[in-house]
Amino acid sequence: TITKIVARQIFDSRGKPTVEVDLTTGQGMFRAAVPSGKSTGIHEACELRDGDKSMYQGAGVLTVVKNVNEILAPAMLGMDVTKQAEIDQKMIELDGTDNKGKLGANGILAVSMAACRAGAAARGVPLYQHIADLAGNPRPVLPVPSFNVINGGVHAGNALAPQEFMILPVGASGFEEAMRMGTETYHTLRSIIQNKYGLNAVNVGDEGGFAPPIDTFEAALDLLTEAIAAAGYTGKIKIGMDPASSEFFRESGEYDLNFKAATNNGSGRRTSAEMVELYKQLVAKYDVIFIEDPLSEDDWAGFADITRELGSQYEIIGDDLLCTNPKRIQRAIESKACNALLLKVNQIGTISESIKAVQLAKSAGWGVLTSHRSGETADDFIADLSVGLSTGHIKSGAPARSERVNKYNQLIRIEQELGSKAVYAGDNWRFISIS
Ligand code: PGA
Ligand code: ZN
Repeated sequence: TITKIVARQIFDSRGKPTVEVDLTTGQGMFRAAVPSGKSTGIHEACELRDGDKSMYQGAGVLTVVKNVNEILAPAMLGMDVTKQAEIDQKMIELDGTDNKGKLGANGILAVSMAACRAGAAARGVPLYQHIADLAGNPRPVLPVPSFNVINGGVHAGNALAPQEFMILPVGASGFEEAMRMGTETYHTLRSIIQNKYGLNAVNVGDEGGFAPPIDTFEAALDLLTEAIAAAGYTGKIKIGMDPASSEFFRESGEYDLNFKAATNNGSGRRTSAEMVELYKQLVAKYDVIFIEDPLSEDDWAGFADITRELGSQYEIIGDDLLCTNPKRIQRAIESKACNALLLKVNQIGTISESIKAVQLAKSAGWGVLTSHRSGETADDFIADLSVGLSTGHIKSGAPARSERVNKYNQLIRIEQELGSKAVYAGDNWRFISIS
């Protein structure tokens, strides 16, 4: 049972304040820290910030720390950490709002994650196994890593509008080999970019991917195709992309592919239908397997169009569209707006609700991609989460920078621990049942 909960303000990979919690039980102390997004969805649970402009440009989380220490902590003493649903329900009730805006989803999530770790220890099982048991998943599976090797959008200081270009070693025989293929291709890509664009083109963005001076989807996809071939992995490494298009959707109802250009003459404006047309051309030309947020977070009609056009062959993933929220997932299932869920625990704020979101998505035959945020910490919880929920793939940025790589490194440990029982998703990354 919980004997103590202490929260504090720490700093994320962008140097912004975030919340860390130490939760103590008879088994010891269990720590968790929450990440923070930049291209956030407007329907996400509330990441509460102090708003005191005299400190941290208003981004402090001292109010949340106080809420955990003075409201959540005393109310949760004595609770059984193996009962995750009860713990999360208690916090949802103490908060009392729809979006966890009173106490802060960032505080609630830190407690939820720490309690989950404590629950695993109380049961004497690894975290991924505990999560699998909470979800009723009989077969934990190691995910295919989705390495974000070219950064654009609001994550990088180049003019590239789409945010993420990822490589997925689906043809690897196991996770460790996937790391070899991914890192070799990342370093090959570095040389190619340096030869083409010069030395300062290999600086990296928020998620550790290169941020070369390019400004089109095609230029990024050409670079990836060349790097994959030069590394010797054509056909074994596939491409995923996250344009994060809510960031360049304008009030006029158009998408602006020049939104970061120094001078914008309006030539990058596209309608929703023109964006769908562009994606159709891209997937026909390049070895792409998924597109995340191809359209803006409330462009339900555009999402339904692209899912109808491309959904049978390609994964259309809802990130900002769904915000890991079971209500929005239900609407997307009914309206056939996408066919896969991006799983970000801090978009919804508890582990129980995250599990529910995955169960709902999988019950509709969807894929699930576990995800970090662009602002990360040393917490590697999502590695175990991806295995426990058999999400088939995980994105944690480039295979570089410790806050990105520590998730991948945890997956190496899990694969080693499982030994001959380890199953790598590989070609089955898209549809893995958990019931
Ligand atoms: P964010 O971006 O963490 O900055 O929101 C990640 C994503 O869009 O997938
Ligand atoms: Zn996204």
